Amino acid sequence: MARALLAVCVAAVTCLSHGFVAPSAFTGARVLSKPVAQASSAIKMSAAEDAFVPDMNRRVAMNAILAGSAGVVVLGLAIPYISFFVPKSAGGAGGGVIARDAVGQDVTVEGWVATHLPGSRELVEGIKGDATYLTVKQDKTIQDFGIVAVCTHLGCVVPWVQAENKFICPCHGSQYNMDGKVVRGPAPLSLALSHIETDTGNVVFKPWTETDFRTGEAPWWK
Ligand code: FES
Repeated sequence: MARALLAVCVAAVTCLSHGFVAPSAFTGARVLSKPVAQASSAIKMSAAEDAFVPDMNRRVAMNAILAGSAGVVVLGLAIPYISFFVPKSAGGAGGGVIARDAVGQDVTVEGWVATHLPGSRELVEGIKGDATYLTVKQDKTIQDFGIVAVCTHLGCVVPWVQAENKFICPCHGSQYNMDGKVVRGPAPLSLALSHIETDTGNVVFKPWTETDFRTGEAPWWK
């Protein structure tokens, strides 16, 4: 009985002590491999993070530079494209449009009358880009209204024919007098008008919204 009790005690002590004794190399390797792997993984992650953060900064910076460059290019293309559809409104012209000559230069009163004879009617770019006649009067001043050269029949540009003292459309023969009033069809209406102001030294077009002095009627082009 005593021997059996002793054997049980020895076995119990052996079992208990086994729990506090370092495991065998094989077993220990398996048990310890997990924390070691975790530690190793943590170190790697830390290292990766250390390497990743500055890389991200560079990427963010590069992305910002690329986005900025692309934005500049897009804006550079978009602005002229959009402005093409926006009616020109000359800043400082009081809401009017400064006339532009054949090479796109602003028309000045002084420059125009110095280079154009009295009685001349020459085209410039007017409101909405329409070809518009400037008339130099006999006193070498510019007439205070412009005549839009777009035929009211089908839209051909109507030339001034000095010999006939008329605007005569080459497309279907419509004729307009020196003020742009239709005198022969098939054009149904007179040429459109716009006001001209010269106070600033430039030739400035402004919309004509009042009664058409040639017909006594409301302007059809409003
Ligand atoms: S377009 Fe001018 S007459 Fe037809």
